[in-house]
Amino acid sequence: MKALVLAGGKGTRLRPLTHTSAKQLVPVANKPVLFYGLEALRDAGVTEVGLIVGDTGAEFREAVGDGSAFGLRITYIHQQAPLGLAHCVLIAREFLADEPFIMYLGDNFLVGGITGLVDAFRAADCDAQILLTKVAEPQFYGVAELGPEGEIIGLEEKPEHPRSDLAIVGVYIFSPAIHRAVRAITPSARGELEITDAITWLIDHGSRIHSHLVSGYWKDTGRLQDMLECNRIVLEQVEPDVRGTVDRLSDVTGRVVIEPGAVVENSVLRGPIVIGADSKIISSYVGPFTSIGANCEVEDAEIEYSIVLDSSSVRGVSRIAHSLIGRNVEVSRATGLPNTHELMVGDHSRIQVRA
Ligand code: TTP
Repeated sequence: MKALVLAGGKGTRLRPLTHTSAKQLVPVANKPVLFYGLEALRDAGVTEVGLIVGDTGAEFREAVGDGSAFGLRITYIHQQAPLGLAHCVLIAREFLADEPFIMYLGDNFLVGGITGLVDAFRAADCDAQILLTKVAEPQFYGVAELGPEGEIIGLEEKPEHPRSDLAIVGVYIFSPAIHRAVRAITPSARGELEITDAITWLIDHGSRIHSHLVSGYWKDTGRLQDMLECNRIVLEQVEPDVRGTVDRLSDVTGRVVIEPGAVVENSVLRGPIVIGADSKIISSYVGPFTSIGANCEVEDAEIEYSIVLDSSSVRGVSRIAHSLIGRNVEVSRATGLPNTHELMVGDHSRIQVRA
């Protein structure tokens, strides 16, 4: 089965990171979110992937290439503007041909793989299979309303007043019937061709839709708190592996991965943590659920429950928590008088300082 992986979009909820790079390439335990999805597809037997990309296409070509590193063949499909999930199906018509396919949202994270879903679709004889999961804030998701027999009676995209707490997970399987549906629908009030409208069109035209609740962990990593939570889940399962250098003054406990070339001196590391290649942790505390990228420096600082991307530094600051720090960022202590915070921050950033 082919797969269509969606890695365009605006990523407004992860600004300012998404001003300069793609949210699907933000790392979770030092591996881009998208890579987990590509691996799950490969493990389910997919070999051909159409990757929808927007303005950040060059970044994907660099990171994913032709897909051979994943055992996949990638065809890049450029989307001029983020005109909706159903628009992605529309522009991938030629690539998808007349076979069923998996549609995978590139910022979604699903523990447990998708092999079971593909088997269920094959057994179900339907035109679409969707996955549902209970969420606390359904207004941020596509939401499904089920009838007494568990059948889908309505789908809504990010409804103001959700009719259920069942969110649609970003992994779908469609028969070629979806192509007529995406051609038939018109843009929603927010100007997008909605996949929920396309599925509703299928229901209205007599198609069978199969849905079931996901049993495993699922996250849409579109927001900071989801990204950090996902990082926590993955780190909880890493196997300890120290390939960098740790001096005798340091105390390392729990699940800790230290990649080659990394140096830890006079520091306390409480796992689960991953420290990227060639990073330096000096006289610092790195606490649980923290991923530090490659070539970073943490010195005289304390940090936990955070993600730091490559080539950034944190010096003389305690304590950083619940934070996502981009690439080539410097966080340091202000000295001298007056006693001020000195900031040079990009557009749409968010900073919380203790007064
Ligand atoms: P969303 O997270 O729904 O949209 P977004 O990326 O624009 O983010 P935000 O709401 O924060 O502005 O998109 C889900 C996935 O689908 C994501 O990987 C981006 C991708 N996508 C496309 O490739 N093309 C599109 O037209 C849209 C809307 C999303």
